[in-house]
Amino acid sequence: MSDQTLILLLSGPNLNLLGDREPAVYGHATLADHVAAAGKAAAALGHEVEHVQSNHEGDLIEAVQQARGRAAAIVVNAGALTHTSWALHDALAAFDGVVIELHLSNPAAREPFRHTSVVAPVADGSIAGFGALGYPLAIEAVHRLLTARIGGLAGLGHAESSSRPRPGMGYPGRHEYRLPPRGRSARPREPGQPDAAQAVA
Ligand code: DQA
Repeated sequence: MSDQTLILLLSGPNLNLLGDREPAVYGHATLADHVAAAGKAAAALGHEVEHVQSNHEGDLIEAVQQARGRAAAIVVNAGALTHTSWALHDALAAFDGVVIELHLSNPAAREPFRHTSVVAPVADGSIAGFGALGYPLAIEAVHRLLTARIGGLAGLGHAESSSRPRPGMGYPGRHEYRLPPRGRSARPREPGQPDAAQAVA
């Protein structure tokens, strides 16, 4: 049973240079500033943050493995490993707590190689493009998802639950989340035919 208060904050390569590194993109705050902001937001919500930064993929994977059964959630800014590390993807897939992907910048609005995230498919959700505000936002997202999970999901909107694949759940094909094309479900059905929403469920 994991400690429901513990949140692992994971920082990937080059994030140790924040404050100095490309300030026009990443701002002037240092990684220590972001960790302090996350810690403060967490304390206000009754959580505790443990932070690990590494420039080495294997260290990050070890940290994810060591969080299994210990931490309730992982907030991960994997830096450029976001776009390449299937090993980190697999480690996160084997962690059954909440996972939030975090970026200071908005990778979708940057160079094409940043448009793919291999972390996103194993995250409950992603927070990107809000600069330093992303850290407290990520902690709040963790808190709300954990609260929803502990309290049961009944009566909560879809946004409070999560469709992240959990260990043992199998990997949902993208098509399982696809809504029927606009207007299709409104079309009258042939007798005996399932409607489009049932067909993809
Ligand atoms: C980043 C975005 C990544 O594309 C980049 O490689 C980083 C930082 C961000 O926080 O905006 O190192 O994760």
